[in-house]
Amino acid sequence: MDWEGWDVPSLRSLREQVDTVLREILATAPPHVPQPIRDAMEYATVDGGKRLRALLLVSLTEAMQGPKPDALLAAAAVEMVHAASLVLDDLPCMDDAKLRRGHPAVHLTFGEDNAILTAFSLINLAYEVLARLPSVEPTTILQIIQQLAWTIGRPGLITGQWQDLHPSAWDEATVDTIHLYKTAVLFEFVTVTAGLLSRAGPMEIASLRRFGTTVGRAFQCLDDILDVYGEPSVTGKDVRQDVRRLTYWKLMPWDAVFDKVEHLLDEAHRIAMGCRWASGTQWFLEPMMVQLQLLRLRVLSAER
Ligand code: IPE
Ligand code: IPE
Ligand code: MG
Ligand code: MG
Ligand code: MG
Repeated sequence: MDWEGWDVPSLRSLREQVDTVLREILATAPPHVPQPIRDAMEYATVDGGKRLRALLLVSLTEAMQGPKPDALLAAAAVEMVHAASLVLDDLPCMDDAKLRRGHPAVHLTFGEDNAILTAFSLINLAYEVLARLPSVEPTTILQIIQQLAWTIGRPGLITGQWQDLHPSAWDEATVDTIHLYKTAVLFEFVTVTAGLLSRAGPMEIASLRRFGTTVGRAFQCLDDILDVYGEPSVTGKDVRQDVRRLTYWKLMPWDAVFDKVEHLLDEAHRIAMGCRWASGTQWFLEPMMVQLQLLRLRVLSAER
């Protein structure tokens, strides 16, 4: 995604901190771990990617005065899970994608066998990192781990990716379901984890949860538009990967698709307004809104 105003020094520095933590974690592999798995884990995780989920987790935690070292570790865990989901998503039996983050997909560089093992390895490493969060109470760690198991497991990502491949109906409700489970649940994990790290109360966790699912749905809608109108030099991915997939733009006029994303972003803004963590969302919501308006202009003039 082309993030207008993205290159903000404080965000760049935060992104570098996340990358440092990621590299340190990956470097802790015991000596017997095969080199191709080490290399593929690094290639899949550190080499490219916007780190949006990581930055959201850290910026929300900072806004709530939660513990930053733990937030950075949890953010690295989220990026490992996200990277694993992309490795699996790109496999020939899934989206059969060739380009990821500006490089050949992991299975093209390391082989399908290594790609699958790398994805499992990243997911398990993420759990390991979360289980060892240094200043978080064991009961909170358990809550975070349970939330992640739900997010990645059969009620979350598995359902979303399965529905994406085998939609049960060709309608809006099914697109909503796909977006919720394949993408929004990970954003929900991010926002809820920031709340749990910061000792947020149940009401606060509920609004963080709603914020996460709402921005996650908007994010996947934009990604689906970029699949048609994005530039591979900017997105780092091939276009028209989703020709056979169910998307909003196949069900409604483009204008209605853009209105839908705008509505979701407005709703996310409304949820955040007045919350103590609202300041941790601006850097994310504003570029999304700008991106939406730029895409609206580009798509509508192309479709005319
Ligand atoms: C891509 O996510 C997958 C989706 C859920 C749309 P990103 O656009 O955040 O991918 P990276 O991490 O920057 O590569
Ligand atoms: C991504 O959906 C969802 C997950 C990886 C879980 P997409 O298939 O649209 O993501 P991209 O466009 O390949 O990044
Ligand atoms: Mg996919
Ligand atoms: Mg894909
Ligand atoms: Mg996509």
